[in-house]
Amino acid sequence: MGQNYDYLKAIAPESSNLIKGLQAVQTREGYVSDASIVAVADYFHTPVVETEGVLSFYAQFKSTRPGRYQICVCDGTACHIKGSPLISEWISTELGITAGETDADGLFSLETVACLGCCSLAPVFSINGKVFGNLDRKTTIRILKEYRNK
Ligand code: FES
Repeated sequence: MGQNYDYLKAIAPESSNLIKGLQAVQTREGYVSDASIVAVADYFHTPVVETEGVLSFYAQFKSTRPGRYQICVCDGTACHIKGSPLISEWISTELGITAGETDADGLFSLETVACLGCCSLAPVFSINGKVFGNLDRKTTIRILKEYRNK
């Protein structure tokens, strides 16, 4: 166990605690890297392939490093009806990434989420938790440019 994973020692090294361990890594690192999978598998006495299986089964876990700005496009019912797939498409075209990816500069990552609780502003997305609503193509691109130039 390397120095970097010492925080796992707060959890008993039993295979039944595997998910707790993965959650601890994600809380600490923001995602679960390939190196973390190996470290967690080792610590919780679980084969790597099984650890990878658990990781891919639960949507809560991210396997790529999040960008500095995490964009969450709402695809709840109200936003979907008001064109959220188009919002995702515009962002993808502008940044060159699709949902679940981070751009090459590590600046933006994109994901699709369920209702953000601001349906009256549909369609919406959030960036690091700040919500933007009533989006059209022009507004979407303008917001991305503002964040890129921050
Ligand atoms: S459906 Fe998008 S905020 Fe509710």
